[in-house]
Amino acid sequence: MIVCVCRAVREREILELVESSERGLRMRDLRERLGVSSECGKCARKAQCLLRQRAESFAMAGTALAGPTTPHEPLAPAASPAAV
Ligand code: FES
Repeated sequence: MIVCVCRAVREREILELVESSERGLRMRDLRERLGVSSECGKCARKAQCLLRQRAESFAMAGTALAGPTTPHEPLAPAASPAAV
């Protein structure tokens, strides 16, 4: 699917660039490297949406690999009145 008509940039090209990048990409990166949103700008919203979706899927994958953010620790036993 074409995202940027002016520069004939396909969704696949954007996703490949995102996948090959070791850091998160911004719209500026898409503009510099693919020409996305460098002319009429009508593609900006769609391109931004793609970047956001990929960032969210990376974040979810990282969460799944890292496990829960708050480990489940056993509750400390309540102090008994005799021990106080
Ligand atoms: S559609 Fe992308 S700059 Fe025009």
